[in-house]
Amino acid sequence: MIKIFHELKLDESNTSAEFIDQTLTKIQRRQQGFYQIIDDVEMVQKIKDFAQKVEGKYKHIVVLAIGGSSLGTICLQQSLTHLYKPTSPTLHVLDNIDPAMISEIQDVIDYSKTLFIIVTKSGNTPEILAQYSYFKDQIDQKNLDAKEHFVVITDQNEGQMREIAKAEDFQTFPVPQDVGGRFSVLTSVGLLPAALIGIDIEKLLQGAKKMRDAFLSSDFDTNLPYQLAQIQFLLYKKGKNINVLMPYAQKLQRLSDWYRQLLAESIGKKFNDKKKEVYAGITPVNALGVTDQHSQSQLYNEGPNDKLIMFIEVENLGAEIKIPGLKEGTENLNGITFNKLLATEKAATQDSFTKNDRPTLTINIDEITPYTLGELFLLFEGSIAFLGEFLGINAFDQPGVELSKVLTKEYLETISA
Ligand code: PA5
Repeated sequence: MIKIFHELKLDESNTSAEFIDQTLTKIQRRQQGFYQIIDDVEMVQKIKDFAQKVEGKYKHIVVLAIGGSSLGTICLQQSLTHLYKPTSPTLHVLDNIDPAMISEIQDVIDYSKTLFIIVTKSGNTPEILAQYSYFKDQIDQKNLDAKEHFVVITDQNEGQMREIAKAEDFQTFPVPQDVGGRFSVLTSVGLLPAALIGIDIEKLLQGAKKMRDAFLSSDFDTNLPYQLAQIQFLLYKKGKNINVLMPYAQKLQRLSDWYRQLLAESIGKKFNDKKKEVYAGITPVNALGVTDQHSQSQLYNEGPNDKLIMFIEVENLGAEIKIPGLKEGTENLNGITFNKLLATEKAATQDSFTKNDRPTLTINIDEITPYTLGELFLLFEGSIAFLGEFLGINAFDQPGVELSKVLTKEYLETISA
């Protein structure tokens, strides 16, 4: 169960059912599948069948992916598994091409017991093709059967990786065409790695469906994604063009990385729908409570008043630990729990921002479970869809990212010529 609390005075907030419906119609016209894919029972069955078939077979899963193809998996792994104990099989996401990563991953995996999952929606991302070519070569050198060690998640019909998968007869899972990379966590992209490390993907989807119902509701009080987008939009118009996401939960730290891409790539746009130059954008910033109280809260309190700080608080953090206290000088800690200390620090930090006239809101969740994670994904994805419409931009393309991909290709052709 998710709630959003705030004490902001948003007189211009549009709460009418008619306006919410009109905005939903605009979103539907963009024909995006992020809120429909969660009904795909065939996809879920295929993933479950595969996970069951390979149970106990691999010691290590290595995901080769970047951006929207990797950040959801990283978030799921951190949020829903033990912070320090590796899962069985272990899961490593290689979302960079730093040769130190390529080299050192080999110190912790046994190739004969490793499954590489290549995730690339386009199938043409040079970083992923380079990683694949390296690890395929290693598998071949070791005379291992590549079909047993590679699975490909990519576009159903197009792209170089699709061609390779066909030629090599690798098992594949599709990324639906109408689901963009940064919206794809609840497709095979995030669900397959999650299922392989024992995360309950059906609960994830149940939570997502619950929030999807809210997203499609024309009732303002029910529609949390709409509420969130309204707050962001109205404050953006007042110059709050930076949004800080600050969970007070270590396990949600990487959720902010996933959200950072979602907000940045969806909303950062040069042109609006009418092809007018608008240079829209909200800059996402990550912070973690309580850690970053000690690194960033000075800036948030007294620096430029250009931020909305969005806290996430968790009612039940999964452990309750009492602070025994020291003999001298810590009377106010004696006997309280870490939970109470964390909650008190969050309240104090929030109040310090409020006293300095800095806007905040709190997203409150009961606990960190597959269900609530599913709800959070849809909350944020839905809010981004609304925000795009409020700004009159297409939140679902990424021409800037495409340009850098085209230029990389051109430069590579010059180098290899
Ligand atoms: O959201 C996006 O479109 C990007 O971040 C992509 O996910 C990223 O560039 C990786 O692309 P691909 O999955 O095609 O390899």
